[in-house]
Amino acid sequence: MQTHKYDVVIVGAGGAGMRAALESSTRTRTAVLTKLYPTRSHTGAAQGGMCAALANVEEDNWEWHTFDTVKGGDYLVDQDAAEIMCREAIDAVIDLEKMGLPFNRTPEGKIDQRRFGGHTRNHGEAAVRRSCFAADRTGHMILQTLYQNCVKQGVEFFNEFYVLDLLMNTGADGVERAAGVVAYELATGEIHVFQAKSVVFATGGTGKVFKTTSNAHTLTGDGMGVAFRRGIPLEDMEFFQFHPTGLAGLGILLSEAARGEGGILRNADGERFMERYAPTIKDLAPRDIVARSMANEVREGRGAGPNKDYVLLDLTHLEPAHIDAKLPDITEFARTYLGVEPYTEPVPVYPTAHYAMGGVPTNVETEVLRNNTDVVPGLYAAGEVACVSVHGSNRLGTNSLLDINVFGRRAGIAAAEYAANAAWVELPANPASLVDGMVEGIRGRESGERVADLRRELQETMDRNVQVFRTEASMKEALGVIDELKERYANVVVQDKGRRYNTDLLEAVELGFLIELAEVITLGALARKESRGGHFREDYEARDDVNFMRHTMAYRAPLAGEGFGAESALFADEVRLDYKPVTVTRYQPMERKY
Ligand code: FUM
Repeated sequence: MQTHKYDVVIVGAGGAGMRAALESSTRTRTAVLTKLYPTRSHTGAAQGGMCAALANVEEDNWEWHTFDTVKGGDYLVDQDAAEIMCREAIDAVIDLEKMGLPFNRTPEGKIDQRRFGGHTRNHGEAAVRRSCFAADRTGHMILQTLYQNCVKQGVEFFNEFYVLDLLMNTGADGVERAAGVVAYELATGEIHVFQAKSVVFATGGTGKVFKTTSNAHTLTGDGMGVAFRRGIPLEDMEFFQFHPTGLAGLGILLSEAARGEGGILRNADGERFMERYAPTIKDLAPRDIVARSMANEVREGRGAGPNKDYVLLDLTHLEPAHIDAKLPDITEFARTYLGVEPYTEPVPVYPTAHYAMGGVPTNVETEVLRNNTDVVPGLYAAGEVACVSVHGSNRLGTNSLLDINVFGRRAGIAAAEYAANAAWVELPANPASLVDGMVEGIRGRESGERVADLRRELQETMDRNVQVFRTEASMKEALGVIDELKERYANVVVQDKGRRYNTDLLEAVELGFLIELAEVITLGALARKESRGGHFREDYEARDDVNFMRHTMAYRAPLAGEGFGAESALFADEVRLDYKPVTVTRYQPMERKY
């Protein structure tokens, strides 16, 4: 086991982690630990843009952006956080421009902007051009730009280091605070303990809980899982976003920018069905509404294709030159993966699991909360792993690239400032014992079930039962499968017993996080007897502000001491649900019409 000591340790090198690193590393000694090589992080898959009310191409202001974010999130958004995000959006884009990000430009040389779902002028009058973009590779460009700037600044990266535990200890004042993390090095199989005054989690989401997803193989909710196992609650996990336009049957993302540039959704009859569901902004309604409308068209028999199980995204009326300039990647995906030519043929699409609105609860300073009010000193979270909550029950497209830049920056500054003033906290005794027990428990098992089989069963039940439409019966069915998988997980076996590049072993560890998070998602959804944003209950179709205008807080029973690898201690005996009020500053909940 190796030990390291840094003032700040940042876990994750996607947009939030690297944006935090750019701030923290100029102020104090900082290490970035990442399970992937940084430029392979999932931020790179974000396509259509990052919104900010620059008003470069038409009238706009950050207050309209705030209103759209709150309404888009079906009023579960903490409005103080949304105000900060939308106000700081403008500087966040300019910062990236100064770092060298090659945004598309208007003929006059300003950053170009395009329409995106739920972004409107003057409180819903019509769609507004608010998304700043680099063709349909905006996330990729953000990732490359941040990485180049990190390299220029000499940020210290530990690549392919999987953080599997969070270390906490009681400081001199008797308060439990962050003390560091434990990581598994993929290349060697060695365990590393990082002592730190501040720890920033920027580990991304957990889309692999579902089978049909736009998320990469690595999006297994590790940061949420690690925090949860150490007694940190998870907030609003039942709210999962299904992006309307995944390539049918595959889930690969086809950017909403396609509709922002004029693409139209049609059913098998060629009807522009969104005119019925959202008469004002049609195909550019927020994602929850569009995804549900698409699924409804299919359920009511108006789906296209031999099995009538998808709808069509029609770009055929757009000029090929326009498509090539604004949507080059996604049209190539349609050609490569479905053999469809978007210049002349509509593209088969269906909703795909895309984004976790919930996560590790934080305040607007990105400090992690241990309950509704108290922070864990020295622990921070930003990006998809976190729940600030700026997205409420449904995130607007392009608000995630914004979130990682605004709150990643805030996390880097806050973590560094805390570290500058805080005393070192002792590491707990045997700091690596939990990870060692977990990893060696799996490696040492001689026979049992395959990781891939359990993962497939988990993902299939989540797709079938906890997707766009949910009922009490469907969620109870999912929980039955999850309970069974929790028991069977104790017997998972890996073929590779080696130490070098043992991804087999790490996938087994990741599966544990996925099972645990699927349970939290489903329990939260079962308890929320209303429909709001991305959470739609067929047995409770209305939003219920009297009983459910509140955040869900899920807690797990404390770890049962040593022996984390033992079956009894791996999963919570019980997940306890509690609730937290929503912060409302200026927008009272209203009926959500588009
Ligand atoms: O559709 C998209 O380009 C995705 C953007 C986002 O999730 O913000």
